[in-house]
Amino acid sequence: MRIVAITDDAVVLRGLERVAGALGSTLDSFKSLAAAALDPAPTAIVLDAEMPGAPEAVPDLKARWPLALVAGFVSNPSRSGWERAEAAGFDLVASRGALAAQLQKKLHTWAASSGKRRARVCDVADLAGRLGVVARLNDAPTGPAAVYHFSGQVCAVEDVCPHAGGRLSEGTLEGTVITCPLHGSQFDVCSGARLRGPADVDIKKLRVEVDGGQVFLVPE
Ligand code: FES
Repeated sequence: MRIVAITDDAVVLRGLERVAGALGSTLDSFKSLAAAALDPAPTAIVLDAEMPGAPEAVPDLKARWPLALVAGFVSNPSRSGWERAEAAGFDLVASRGALAAQLQKKLHTWAASSGKRRARVCDVADLAGRLGVVARLNDAPTGPAAVYHFSGQVCAVEDVCPHAGGRLSEGTLEGTVITCPLHGSQFDVCSGARLRGPADVDIKKLRVEVDGGQVFLVPE
């Protein structure tokens, strides 16, 4: 576990040191977003929600570290400041005094569920020179899934045809379009979009995460 704090607020940092000690986690603190070293993957990122640029940074942080809990704290909670922080998409918003206790409580379930949810697919190095289907997972938490690689882009979709259960990845792949081996329905394996029936709905697109040189499937 690794907690990254982007603040120099002494009260918040003292609280986070207690949390890190209780959870056996490391705590790295930085004074600004620009100075923050976020590698290796953090378990939690704590930001001063009122710091310039903090609300705007939340979507980028969540996209880059989809398994990290992104928490914001407010020092002088006004209604508008609180609402702004909540609208930014933080996973947790708390006052600076309450942040540590609330973060510790939330991290207990957050880390456990993250570990259960994501499924390892392969090493990034395994993708070199392999295009098309690179993995089929029967027992992923997402259900049967297929992972595809197209020159640098890794996509994953559920691997069951919604028409009558055909195993899509056993069909024909042309570009990013897969044709079901049973009755010919077609889907885009990067968006999940249905392109041709008889299936009448899309297939589910699954989230892929690259972390520590490995590729994971992360259910939404
Ligand atoms: S099972 Fe896929 S088209 Fe019928």
